[in-house]
Amino acid sequence: MNDDEDEAFRALLRGLRVAHAGDLPVFDPATAPDAPLPLFRRWLREAAEAGEPGPHTMTLATAGADRRPSQRTVMLHDADERGWHFGTHRTSRKGRELAENPHASLAFHWMREGRQVRVSGRAVEAGPEESAADLRGRSPAALAAALAGSGRQSEVLGSYEELLRAFDAAYERAGRDPDATASTWALYVLEADEVEYYQEEARRRHVRLRYRRAPGERGGWQRELLWP
Ligand SMILES: Cc1cc2nc3c(=O)[nH]c(=O)nc-3n(C[C@H](O)[C@H](O)[C@H](O)COP(=O)(O)O)c2cc1C
Repeated sequence: MNDDEDEAFRALLRGLRVAHAGDLPVFDPATAPDAPLPLFRRWLREAAEAGEPGPHTMTLATAGADRRPSQRTVMLHDADERGWHFGTHRTSRKGRELAENPHASLAFHWMREGRQVRVSGRAVEAGPEESAADLRGRSPAALAAALAGSGRQSEVLGSYEELLRAFDAAYERAGRDPDATASTWALYVLEADEVEYYQEEARRRHVRLRYRRAPGERGGWQRELLWP
């Protein structure tokens, strides 16, 4: 790397703009509901309607016993009174970290509308029946991927050919047996004790609204504004 390349890279970054879909929505926190879930569902629906690509993808942050955070993208399967649902292998890095420390955090970024949502709490594993039902309700390709990754996700792969062979066998099995279960696949529910909504504003007077409740408490939420 030379100085010119460094400067060109910095100039590229400075010149980049966030792609809003048009005028940003106005968020009046005084009209926000008492609990975070209805607002989340509304913002997710609005993100989908605004043409946000993959509005149901989210960043999941975990940290195991070594306290070193790691993040990755996962799909949201549901959000209900219990919490935010996602599926993965319990033997993966994230699965192992959650077994050591269930505290986790999710982040959504809906760029077209200048919105961000952060959800934090404890991720608890749903039972085997619910996990299997969740997987059955997804696409044959998702089942094949779960079968192929069972017990292997996040492990070192010897060669790409090995992966191709495993996927061929998994697709064949998923086609033959749509009720097949992937033994390490689990549905997790992140039981939120904090949910924060962020709405960008054109002059950077962004609105941040945080909902909080004591961990494990199922009752009322405290709401407060935060400096952006
Ligand atoms: C758009 C997108 C969606 C993904 N959805 C999932 C998912 O729902 N579950 C999953 O286990 N991995 C999903 N992945 C892969 C993860 O990001 C990650 O690479 C994998 O789960 C291994 O993570 P880990 O080693 O940190 O445990 C997705 C990746 C992308 C790019």
